[in-house]
Amino acid sequence: MRSLLKDAKTGGWAVGSFSVANMECVRGVLNAAEELRAPIILQIAEVRLPHSPLSLIGPMMLAAAKQASVPVAVHLDHGKTLSCIREALDLGFTSVMCDGSELPIDENMKLTEEVVSLASKYDAAVEAEVGRVGRGEDGSEGSAQIASLDDCFRMDETGIDALAVGIGNAHGLYAASPQLRYDVLERLNGRLRAALVLHGGTGLTGEQFQTVISLGMRKINIATDIFMAQAGACQGSDIFRNIASSVDAVSNVVKRHIKLFGSEGRA
Ligand code: 13P
Repeated sequence: MRSLLKDAKTGGWAVGSFSVANMECVRGVLNAAEELRAPIILQIAEVRLPHSPLSLIGPMMLAAAKQASVPVAVHLDHGKTLSCIREALDLGFTSVMCDGSELPIDENMKLTEEVVSLASKYDAAVEAEVGRVGRGEDGSEGSAQIASLDDCFRMDETGIDALAVGIGNAHGLYAASPQLRYDVLERLNGRLRAALVLHGGTGLTGEQFQTVISLGMRKINIATDIFMAQAGACQGSDIFRNIASSVDAVSNVVKRHIKLFGSEGRA
């Protein structure tokens, strides 16, 4: 993930980080990335693992990344426990997120430092979170919290590669278009070693994506849009027709975002 973020920083664009739940998602994301020659990140959040066990979906994500003709990073999203983070690293994930956003900042930093030290043994990158993205990755309740600048600067010192910041964004569907706190990004832009990450990409407008990218966002996460597209593509009882239409539906969502993020043709 490190090299993808570095290229995005140099070029002033963002890498799409797309959440997957099954083989159709993986294939849809890869098809889109190869068609548009875009580097991408395949990710899965710890909260989703009861449905898609890491021991099964992890090797599939890694195999897809290795077979791809474009650069693909494989990322654990919202890692909450050290055991899950360690499992992802043992499998060969190229990056992990250490989500300590529910902890006081000192404890969040302590946990993140522990993960940075562990990940360095695997030469894997680490993403942390400061402030809080609203709602859980699975849509569960949880309030958004705007990141404090001081906490961002302190977290940057832990040796992380990427930093998710709360700027009024939330996972899942927005009831109304969120008022993103661009002022926070304006103050952080160019002052952190870590690349900025935007969670809660589903439902944001092209203009909002363009603004956050111009203010330094280098990784943008999309999940709900992918899962809804796949669910909507499944009709009738022909499983193989549903598989084919799911892959195409996911691919269309991913292509739309690759174009919005400016990552087309960067592979
Ligand atoms: P959405 O479900 O809102 O697209 O958010 C994705 C995300 O941030 C995953 O961590």
